[in-house]
Amino acid sequence: MKRLIITLILILPSIGFAAGGGVALQSANNDLTDNESLKAGAKLFIDYCMGCHSADYVRFQRVGKDIGISDEELLKDFMFSADKVGETMSIAMDKEDAEKWFGVIPPDLSVIARARGTDWLYTYLMTFYLDSSRPFGVNNLAFPDVGMPHVMWDIQGWQEPVYEEKDGHKVITSLKLIGPKDKAEQYKTDVRNLVNFLEYIGEPAKLHRLSLGWKVIAFLFIFLIFAILLKKEYWRDVH
Ligand code: HEC
Repeated sequence: MKRLIITLILILPSIGFAAGGGVALQSANNDLTDNESLKAGAKLFIDYCMGCHSADYVRFQRVGKDIGISDEELLKDFMFSADKVGETMSIAMDKEDAEKWFGVIPPDLSVIARARGTDWLYTYLMTFYLDSSRPFGVNNLAFPDVGMPHVMWDIQGWQEPVYEEKDGHKVITSLKLIGPKDKAEQYKTDVRNLVNFLEYIGEPAKLHRLSLGWKVIAFLFIFLIFAILLKKEYWRDVH
């Protein structure tokens, strides 16, 4: 038993490592209670991701209600392909065409944050780098030989890999931004907002659970004060 526990402790970190494709994960640091961030993330998702990815389990109206976007605002600023707020975030791309263009069908992203985790998503979106051997001219540290182009290059710019010799192999030790650099700082915030939105759609009920959690704690705290007062009251007669 003891040996089993020790083995598990030793191999657990390596499982996490394998899931990241060998890359050290960067922390997403996103905050589900930040409505402005969720709103910005929703906009980025629609502008940059919904050309290829759907979120078939998510309705625009639910998103609007949860993060405070009115139906009018939804229609005006957020919805281009759909025209009724009750519709899901689906896309019209033909699956066969997608396979022809990308070799794979871009997956639905409704629950991607639960499948991959927020830190992986953040790292994935941060680590596209130039690689002329790939069909779209880019590769990715978290997802080697990925079939997705670097769609947000206009914000982050392009990154070049920096190599080092290790045991006779060339390994990438870091990525260097080569420009255009003017919006690279903005990109980190954008990716954080986008990952925040992806975590939210993965489990919309989490928002309510978080706020309910605080209410429960507040209730227990107030209850505790009364319990203490009551205890004092009872013991006064005993002494
Ligand atoms: C031009 C089409 C296109 C756009 C736009 C696009 N993607 Fe992708 N994406 C793909 C394809 C194709 C794959 C599958 C790659 C593979 O399996 O090799 C993919 C894969 C992914 C994956 C990995 C899924 C997995 O298997 O774990 C994530 C995460 C992802 N995309 C997120 C995004 C986000 C976030 C955006 C918006 C910023 C976005 N994508 C925009 C085409 C696109």
